[in-house]
Amino acid sequence: MTTLEAARAVGPGLDRVDAPMKVTGKAHYPNDFGYPGLVHAALVHSTVAAGRIRGIDTSAAETAPGVQAVITHLTAPRLEPGPMTLLGASPPTPFQDDRILHHGQHIAIVVASSPEQARHAASLVRVDYERSEPLLDVHDPRATVVENPWGLDSDRGDVDAGFAAADVVVGGTFTTPDNTNNPLGLMSTVASWNGDSLTVHDSTQWPHNVRATLAAVFKVPESGIRVLAPYVGGGFGAGLRVWPHVILTVLAARQVGKPVKLVLTRPEMFTSVGHRPDSVQQIRIGATRAGDLTAITHEGLSSVAMEDDDYEPVSLCSAVSYACPNVRTQDRQVRLNIPCPGSMRGPAEGQGNFALESALDELAHELGMDPVELRLRNYCEEHPLLGLPWSSKALRDCYLQGAERFGWSRRDPRPGSMRDGRWLVGYGMAGVSYPHYQVPCQARASLHRDGSADVRSAATDIGTGTYTIMTQLSAEQLGLDVSRVHFDLGDSDMPYAPQAGGSGLTSALGNAVGAACRNLIREFLDVVKDDADSPLRGAAPDEVSVSGGRIHRTGAPDQGESYTDILTRHGLEELSADGRSTPPQPDGGGMATAGAFGAKFVEVRVDPDLGLLRVARVVSAIDGGRILNEKTATSQIVGGTVGGIGQAMFEETATDPGTGRIANATFGDYLVAVNADVPDMEVIFVGGPDRATPIGTKGVGEVGLVGVAAAVANAVHHATGRRIRSLPITIDQLL
Ligand code: MOS
Repeated sequence: MTTLEAARAVGPGLDRVDAPMKVTGKAHYPNDFGYPGLVHAALVHSTVAAGRIRGIDTSAAETAPGVQAVITHLTAPRLEPGPMTLLGASPPTPFQDDRILHHGQHIAIVVASSPEQARHAASLVRVDYERSEPLLDVHDPRATVVENPWGLDSDRGDVDAGFAAADVVVGGTFTTPDNTNNPLGLMSTVASWNGDSLTVHDSTQWPHNVRATLAAVFKVPESGIRVLAPYVGGGFGAGLRVWPHVILTVLAARQVGKPVKLVLTRPEMFTSVGHRPDSVQQIRIGATRAGDLTAITHEGLSSVAMEDDDYEPVSLCSAVSYACPNVRTQDRQVRLNIPCPGSMRGPAEGQGNFALESALDELAHELGMDPVELRLRNYCEEHPLLGLPWSSKALRDCYLQGAERFGWSRRDPRPGSMRDGRWLVGYGMAGVSYPHYQVPCQARASLHRDGSADVRSAATDIGTGTYTIMTQLSAEQLGLDVSRVHFDLGDSDMPYAPQAGGSGLTSALGNAVGAACRNLIREFLDVVKDDADSPLRGAAPDEVSVSGGRIHRTGAPDQGESYTDILTRHGLEELSADGRSTPPQPDGGGMATAGAFGAKFVEVRVDPDLGLLRVARVVSAIDGGRILNEKTATSQIVGGTVGGIGQAMFEETATDPGTGRIANATFGDYLVAVNADVPDMEVIFVGGPDRATPIGTKGVGEVGLVGVAAAVANAVHHATGRRIRSLPITIDQLL
């Protein structure tokens, strides 16, 4: 069988197997599904951020053309709360009382024959509010503060002694704004009841979570619910949780006795499917003149919704990234009248890394030390909190090979010293230590008499390449050409899969697929164990290899036979086997000694007269363990880098401080990086297979975004001498 040692560290860049389906329109996204008798829903939202609904007049909406139902908290049945999940509690179940917790909260759902009729009728609903003053500012003294919300605050050594021993202390207050996940595909739900059984098409990153949530909320058995998401138009974390609009669409379908479709509008995406919460961070770093870190304190303050437990340990990165004996990290959340936040690409790390890696750059500057050298000097070979070796860590190679590829040695360390005509040129870098979580997963593999294989699991491909890399991995594990393997996903009737999130799916699913394939080969050996006609008779699993659609004795390619021959001789149509993966030993504290690592090197140009900032080049050096497909993995890092440029320079969800209304909830007003903002981006993969799991992968979903903001800000400092501590970096900060 294929062994880890035999596997290539960087696999071939197979084209996406789902690409022809996508470009020919055969890939069906959730809102592409229709049913006979399908009707359409539209939502009504609160126009105040806090208070109660005193009265709600739906009469005009109810008599509008095509309308079949208008449901509000007054007419909705009592529904149960959603379950606790790996990602925390479910958002509050909608329509259970008259309270308003945020502007944009869904307060009615209208069902009509067409989407236009539904939207028109929704505009006719009249609401009388009893307003109260909303809490909208993290510094509002009236707001409830949640201390150490996830039990991940840390304190090691003696930070006071560490600062006393420091020759240089740097730091300050860093702020990051709300950002909104904006997958291109508007999130959509189609729900169809048949008696007590339910079929749902949904823009989810986790079909089993949708199934479990709907079963709990509607008190129906999970076995009667099927959730389908074979294709979704992106995720970025917006599809991890089961949001109120999904529950409302299912409720509406039950109420009208017809299939119902709801497609969120772009403005609704800003209030309905989570966002990266803002942060205010205080960081201090002390070091000796020689550059040894003596103390770090990092405190993060973030906003969270009134009834939610979104998980963003912003300061944790400072506890696990460097070898520093005295470190204290603390997080607090402030409850505000805002829509529920949720994980958005690199949650917590995206905010915390900006402060940590900016402050380290400041320290390097104060010490007159090269920023790469400072990071190498404080490199940690062990997980600093757990005191255990990393499962693998090639961050040193990220720094060194990234610097080499970038041409870091050409950097004159004096700020403002490098120019290209009227543009100031800046080089900046940042390191990234990205925790890698893996959760249990299952898969099933089948081999048919014609020599083809089917492999499946209820995971999703949010556009990142899951179909492709799992096809490749299955083909490799079974010794088949990729053209003979069909990998299927996105259906809750398939074996259990966790979320496509937390950069953990490739390892979770890959190890389950690997186990299913190994078990399948065992099944074949079992069939021929007493077969006198088989050259494999009596062979043990560890004595065989697979290639060319055959199992053969390792080292003796002619002593074997094809899957087809075995099945045919034994009168079998197919053989199947299940496989499951279990995470590497948890340490008990929710942390893992596995991680992806990276170094980001950025060149910027700043026009000092106009305050213009351009990112000219980015080199990303990434340790993602074994890379299954160089092309899709590179795309992941490139895509993450584009998201990071957006975080650094553009993205900011603006909430009106008086009303709590999101003021820029369109793609015209919420700026993201576009082609003209995206430079030459180079990606190199370093390191090799990780030893934490059999297939040797880590995850490359989020390590590509984290670090970009700090590297850009550090490059801006190098270009201009200005230390930017607030994202996004806007013209006014550069003038
Ligand atoms: Mo990602 S924020 O884990 O979808």
